Order: sequence, then C-alpha cells, then structure tokens
Amino acid sequence: MNKKLRQAIIAGNWKMNKTRPEAKALIEALIPVAKNATCGVVICVPFTNLETAVELTKGTNIKVGAQNCHFEKSGAFTGEISADMLTEMGVEYVVIGHSERRQYFGETDVTVNKRTKAAVAAGLKVLLCVGELLEEREQGITEEIVGLQTKVAVMGLTADEIKNIVIAYEPVWAIGTGKTATDEQAEEVCAYIRGVVEKLYSKADADAMTIQYGGSMNPKNAAGLLTKENIDGGLIGGASLKAEDFAVLLEAASK
Ligand code: PGA
Repeated sequence: MNKKLRQAIIAGNWKMNKTRPEAKALIEALIPVAKNATCGVVICVPFTNLETAVELTKGTNIKVGAQNCHFEKSGAFTGEISADMLTEMGVEYVVIGHSERRQYFGETDVTVNKRTKAAVAAGLKVLLCVGELLEEREQGITEEIVGLQTKVAVMGLTADEIKNIVIAYEPVWAIGTGKTATDEQAEEVCAYIRGVVEKLYSKADADAMTIQYGGSMNPKNAAGLLTKENIDGGLIGGASLKAEDFAVLLEAASK
C-alpha cells in the first residue's frame, strides 16, 4: 500500500490557548504518552509558548510548530513574526493558511502562497491548510475550491521544496463544530488533493506527501479516518488540549 510510503503525523493545533505554566503542564503530560508513537508528533503552540515548548521537548520525539509566520524577512510589520525568527528558536513546523486566518484575518490564497514560500525558504516544514465552506460543499464545488487553494498555495515551489509541505484537509464546517466529515468524505478529498499534487509534481512526490485530515477529529472517530488510504494523520484542535485524548490519537496513527 502507498500509505507505507509516507509518515502519518498527528499535529496538535493549540490555537489561542494555554498560558506558559499551562503549556508546561500539558507538554510534561504529553512527553510520556508520545514516547512510543511511531507516527510523527507535532505541537503547534501560541508564539508565547514556543520557547517553553522547544526547551521542554529537547531530546523527545515531539516537534514544535508555530501557527503562522510572515512572508517578509524583517521590517515594519507590527505584530508579525518571520520564518527566520522561528527557525532560530528551534521551531521546525508552521501552520499556514488555517481557515481561522482566512476567515478572521484576511488571509488569501495569495498571501498563503507568499507565507508558504518564505517558510520553506527558511527551512521550516509547512502544515498547509485547505478546505471548503459548508455552502461550497452544498454547491458541489469542494474539489474546485480545495484544488485551487492547493495549486495557488504551492505556486513557485520546486519539486525539492514540495517535500517540506504537509497538506491538512480541513473542511471549515467541521472545525470546532463537533461535526466530522465521514471517513469517506475525508478520504475522497484527501485522494483528490493527492491527485492535484501528482499532476503538478510527480506520482512519487504525491505518494510521499503526508496529507492530514482536520476538523473535530477525536478519540472516537480517529481510528476510522486514520485507516483510510489517503489520510496520513490529523491536525487536531480541541482534542490536542488534553493529554489523554491526544494519546488515543497518537496510538491510532501509530498502527
Ligand atoms: P478541531 O480543530 O479539531 O477543534 O475541529 C482543528 C483545526 O482547526 O485545526
């Protein structure tokens, strides 16, 4: 099975949660439960927790990610953080194009592309989020929307650079709503995205790419989603904030 050609990754997206002491407590609880995971383990924490996370996870199998970065290297961009600032700290991953950034902060496919290119150029691995709105699914244009988001996001990336991209398929209607895509719905779109990557790059690049599902993935529904051929792990919001829930997801992805 081609699933063996790539690593499943369970990535926690903490969003705007956890003060530094709270982050420390959660990471200390995560280290022992992540220890035996054979899947990749990433925690994407708020900027204020990055230093704590990098320090505490040294020598463990947990990698640290940020939740965004700017496309310029430095300068007059109040409130922004550059990709170089992240790599200098020891951060390895960054979430780009999350639907909350698109919905609430004016992120567009074009800015997602600029941020993705800057992140990869700085040596970061990108968790690139794509996904349709409910009305887009109802209109029957999920593939067009997700296809376009994917194509624009990776515009200008070389075949070498695409190896540093993980795509997270996150249907917007499933994020934080408790409504999960069915295993079949999620598999269908993840397979479609893999086809888009194959057309843009090659079959080998598409087969090697980790494509996650995200959107209310939890200990109850993870096993079904994660056994699907084209779903290689998950980007996890709510269920990444409790060590016991995250542990179940790591176990499911390590099978
Ligand atoms: P959720 O969030 O698991 O809470 O739905 C997923 C995400 O937004 O990455």
